[in-house]
Amino acid sequence: MKNFKIMRIQLLKLTIIVSLAALSAIYSLNGAPAEAFSAGPFPSLTGAPGESSCRECHSGGPTGGTLSINGLPTNYSPNQEIILTVTLAQAGRLRFGFQLTAIDDTGKRAGDLIPNDSRTQTQTNNVNGNQRQYINHTGQGNAPTSSGQGSWTFRWKAPAQSVGRVTFYVAGNAANGNFNQTGDTIYTISQSIQPAPALTNIASVSAASFAPNASLTADGIVAGFGTGLSQNVVQATTVPLPTQLDGIEVLVKDANGVERPAGLFFVAPTQINYLIPAGTAGGNATITVRRNGVDAAQGTATIEPVAPGLFTSNASGKDVAAAVILRRRNNIDTFEPVAQFNAATSRFDPLPVDLGPDTDVVVLVAFGTGFRAAAQSAVTASIGGTASTFVGVAPAPGFEGLDQANILIPRSLIGRGVVDVVFTANGKTANTVQISVK
Ligand code: HEC
Repeated sequence: MKNFKIMRIQLLKLTIIVSLAALSAIYSLNGAPAEAFSAGPFPSLTGAPGESSCRECHSGGPTGGTLSINGLPTNYSPNQEIILTVTLAQAGRLRFGFQLTAIDDTGKRAGDLIPNDSRTQTQTNNVNGNQRQYINHTGQGNAPTSSGQGSWTFRWKAPAQSVGRVTFYVAGNAANGNFNQTGDTIYTISQSIQPAPALTNIASVSAASFAPNASLTADGIVAGFGTGLSQNVVQATTVPLPTQLDGIEVLVKDANGVERPAGLFFVAPTQINYLIPAGTAGGNATITVRRNGVDAAQGTATIEPVAPGLFTSNASGKDVAAAVILRRRNNIDTFEPVAQFNAATSRFDPLPVDLGPDTDVVVLVAFGTGFRAAAQSAVTASIGGTASTFVGVAPAPGFEGLDQANILIPRSLIGRGVVDVVFTANGKTANTVQISVK
C-alpha cells in the first residue's frame, strides 16, 4: 500500500516533468496537467481491499448524490457476458468520473471488463501481487449524460470457470467542473454476485426404447432424466410444441456449435420429454436445461441420422407395442387395437390379432421415433422370427417426432400367440416389442 502510494507520486512527478517539457502551454496555475485526471485517473482507486480511492486527491464538495451499478444478476455462468451501467447522480454537478474493478474473494481479477464506447477505457495494475483490471472514464466520458448525472455502459465477461463470489468495487467523482481536485465529492460502493449453482446431469434417451447410451436423431422424441428439473409437471397443449414450459427451456447444441431450442412435450421434476430440433447435425451434442434463464442441468448425446425406437403401450420399451392394426378387406381400411387395459394389473396386455380370411391384408402400424430418415430399402422387420414381406416407414401425421413402421403381418403366424416384433432401420435394431396373433 505504502510502496504503491510512493510509486504513484513518482509517476505523477514524471507526468508533470514530461508534460512540462512538452506542453507547458496548457498548464493550469497549480502546475497539474490540465487533462491528465479528468481524462482518466490512475488505477487502483476503487476502494477495493488494498486500494485507496479518489479521495486521496479529491475532496470538499457537498454530498447527497448516488452511485449505483445496474445490470448485475444474482448469479453468473462461465463466460457469460453482462452489460453493466455505472451511474453517478448529484444535482448541480458538472463533471463525473468513475473507476470500477471486479475481483474474487482472494483479491484477484475476475473476468474481463470491456469498453462499449469512447466514454470508458481500461487499464491494469498490480495490487499486493494480484494483477487487477480497471475500467474508468475517458476525457470524453467525464461529460454529463444528462443534467446532474454521468453514466457509463460497458460489458463484463465472466471468467471461463467459476471463481466463487465476485465483487464489483466502484468509486465515483461528482465534480464541480473547476478542473481541479477541489470542491468535488467522492462516492464508493461495492456489490457482489455469486456463481450459478453447479449443473446437475440430464441423461437423454429415446422416449420409445429408453435404450441407455444409444444414439438419438434430429426430429426424435427424447426422454431426459435428471433431478430437480422443473418445479411442476406441465404438458404441452399445442403443436408446434412450445419451447418453454414452467420456466424450463431445453437447448441442443450440435457438433457444429449451433444451438437450437427444443420443442417440449412435458416437463416434470425428474423427466423432460423433448424433441431433438430439426437440423441438429450429426456428432456430439450438448443438451442444456435452462430454468428461469439460468442453466440448471447439462448432458451429452450422440446424434445420428437414424436410431430406431418403438413405443410400447406400457411405456417400458419392452412389451406390447404402441401400435394399431390396419386391416384392408374388400378395399375398405379399418383400424383395430393391439392392446387392452387390464384393470387388475393397471397395465396393457396384448390383444390377439385375428388375421382373418386370406383375402384380408393385415398390417401392424407400430409407432416409434428416430427412423423417418431411413430409406425404404434400408428397413426390415420380422415378427415371431418370420421376415415380413412389406415394411414401410413414414412420419406419423399430426404429431411432432412420431414415426410409424407399417409391417405386413405374415399369415404363417396364425395361432402363435405372443410374438416378438424386431424392426431394423439402416442396419440398427430397435427395441423388441410384442404383439399377439390369434
Ligand atoms: C493523484 C491525485 C488524483 C487522484 C487519485 C484522482 N484525481 Fe481526479 N483529478 C486530479 C487533478 C489534479 C485534477 C484536475 C486536473 C484535471 O482536470 O485533470 C482532477 C480532475 C478530475 C476530474 C475533473 C474535475 C473537475 O471538477 O473538473 C474528474 C471527473 C476526476 N478527476 C475524476 C477522478 C476519479 C473518478 C478519481 C478516482 C477513480 C480521481 N479523479 C482520482 C487528481 C486526482
